[in-house]
Amino acid sequence: MKSALITGGAGFIGSNFIHYALNHDPHIKVVNFDVLTYAACLKNLEDLPDPSRYTFIEGDICDADKVDAVLREHEIDTIVHFAAESHVDRSIFGPGTFVRTNITGTFTLLESARQVWLEDAGRSVEEVRFHHISTDEVYGSLKPDDPPFHETTPYAPNSPYAASKAASDHLVRAYSKTYDLPITLTNCSNNYGPYQFPEKLIPLILLNAIEGKPLPIYGDGAQIRDWLYVDDHCSAIFDVLVQGQVGETYNIGGDNQPTNLELVRWICTILDDELPDSQHRPHESLITFVADRPGHDRKYAMDTRKIKTEMGWQPRETLATGLRKTIAWYLSNPDWVGEIKTRPTFSEWLVQNYAARGDN
Ligand code: NAD
Ligand code: DAU
Repeated sequence: MKSALITGGAGFIGSNFIHYALNHDPHIKVVNFDVLTYAACLKNLEDLPDPSRYTFIEGDICDADKVDAVLREHEIDTIVHFAAESHVDRSIFGPGTFVRTNITGTFTLLESARQVWLEDAGRSVEEVRFHHISTDEVYGSLKPDDPPFHETTPYAPNSPYAASKAASDHLVRAYSKTYDLPITLTNCSNNYGPYQFPEKLIPLILLNAIEGKPLPIYGDGAQIRDWLYVDDHCSAIFDVLVQGQVGETYNIGGDNQPTNLELVRWICTILDDELPDSQHRPHESLITFVADRPGHDRKYAMDTRKIKTEMGWQPRETLATGLRKTIAWYLSNPDWVGEIKTRPTFSEWLVQNYAARGDN
């Protein structure tokens, strides 16, 4: 890993990964390739440990000529592919961009890697790597007593987002089997932590609570997610890049499985502690049940024995420590929060997603 192309590096996990990679590998050069959608924020990359090893290129992963040129000019040997449309609720309102970015975009990157690495340069399996970032949502939804998702669990995606990620995973696998493109793939559970765009549950709830706004819980709030602190996801990806077997998939998760309602109550309790003078205490009183998400998956849980056994990977944060760190980060970064909140695209989204939901 000398020169890595990080797609979607101005988003939540991609930007955390760039910090992680520059901090943990003193030699790596990083090229961040991002088209800067509504979810991107270049502020995430303002305090990098060694900016001389970092380059930003504004570009679309569906633009084959531009991707080819970047792979050649920067002598890229590793692609870590984060770029995606990532929000389930947005995929319900507008699935088209999910099909374009997540499926066509991944296909375009795979084709470029095949052409530039294998056809033109004749690079060997040991020299290059295409790492694809995917999600637990491709496996569908668990019943209460089902075993957690294993790497061999059949795919059963339920939202347009999950279906587009499943399709991209299949393409990545096909390029490995058909063209011997050296790939690795990770499927991870729900991330949280610094720089997460506040359309997702945890930052949305904590920012609404601070302002005394309603805390919208979809349906009965008994859905279960497996929460992982973002830095632990980054360490898992890094371990797979260094130690992973080419052609293999690894599941990543945090073994933290509260219901959504329990999680929101937990955030409220921490905020009650952190903001003793707030007029909105107890923050839990702001909880509001609203109309459910169509096709809402009931439960996710990950079997993470493979990555733990093969690589010794372990998450460092529990949900208790990770939530406190996350809340502290949002409270101490009002400039970042303010910049996102003043974007018209953000307020338009809040109206589009929540105005018609009402109280249950
Ligand atoms: P995000 O929405 O915060 O960021 C996505 C980034 O991709 C943005 O910077 C955006 O500008 C960029 N992008 C979008 N379309 C692009 C295009 N056509 N060309 C170039 N760049 C483009 O997403 P995230 O939450 O950081 O997720 C990153 C990846 O991790 C996604 O592939 C997602 O499916 C996966 N994932 C996310 C989670 C989670 O909990 N957030 C969990 C598991 C897997
Ligand atoms: O599981 C991994 C996935 O996690 C990633 O692949 C996705 O990119 C990421 O967005 C996330 O998807 P979810 O749909 O699980 O995350 P979200 O934060 O949108 O919602 C978490 C849970 O909270 C889910 O059950 C829906 C619920 N929810 C969400 C919002 C935004 C609410 O009850 N109210 C809300 O306002």
